[in-house]
Amino acid sequence: MSYKTVLFNVEGKVATLTFNRPEKLNALTPEMMGEIAEVLEKVGKDPKIRVLIMTGQGRAFIAGADIKVFLKLDPLAARRFSQTAHRLAFMIEELEIPVIACVNGFALGGGCEMAMACDFVYASEDAKFGQPEINLGIIPGFGGTQRLARLVGKGLAKELCLTGRLIDAAEARTLGLVAQIFPAAVFMDECLKVARSLAQKGRVAVGAVKQAIDRGVDLYLRAGYALETEAFARCFASPDAKEGAAAFLEKRQPKFE
Ligand code: COA
Repeated sequence: MSYKTVLFNVEGKVATLTFNRPEKLNALTPEMMGEIAEVLEKVGKDPKIRVLIMTGQGRAFIAGADIKVFLKLDPLAARRFSQTAHRLAFMIEELEIPVIACVNGFALGGGCEMAMACDFVYASEDAKFGQPEINLGIIPGFGGTQRLARLVGKGLAKELCLTGRLIDAAEARTLGLVAQIFPAAVFMDECLKVARSLAQKGRVAVGAVKQAIDRGVDLYLRAGYALETEAFARCFASPDAKEGAAAFLEKRQPKFE
């Protein structure tokens, strides 16, 4: 199936979703959001896919929601727009496989929020992040105020959302927004290396890590520990747990199902 605003390809166990409106720095339109949702649904239904990479064509990951769209929004349409965007983030969270944001350039507004909705973020050394909505007289509407505050803390999140300033990859890493930075020339190769290695890990354990952390951060600590105990126990329902331990003791690589 071909899409108008994104590219989708699967190589082995790794799928890549590429935002593809480079002439508009991949600004998010409702059509693009619809196509992203279609891809996420497809990925969720394909057990062969074990990792999803999201990246952008050209100079940007996503330079924000398409500002043209805002001219037409009344409060009702704005609510729907924000809810649709939030649903994309929930779809990413609900996938049992890791979703890596490979931020190749500008990740602004909805782009920064899309990156934060992924399980973790890798950045090219020339990537730029920011929540510049304040300069348009609005605020982030794709989870930015909430995810940014949880990732970097309340004070820094407010400073970034209030000033709208752009930060480079190095600062984003210092703040905890970015897990690793790779040189631009080898960026996608390095991201793919990690993705292929994640694709070899046990599916049950990978899903359990995602669920325990995503659901646990919203709970009080004791409830979070209980959630972890249940997830830990569930891992032992899969042969992967025995295989992992046996492989270690037999000094060989594990073969997970
Ligand atoms: N919505 C719609 N169009 C956008 C866009 C957005 N969020 N971001 C970039 N574009 C378009 C530009 O209008 C331009 O289109 P044109 O060639 O038809 O004029 C094209 O993408 C290239 O962008 P340009 O501004 O010329 O590139 P630049 O290198 O000078 O600046 C940015 C890059 C990212 C700093 C600048 O495009 C920008 O500030 N974008 C908006 C960021 C933003 O506020 N995002 C949050 C939205 S809620």
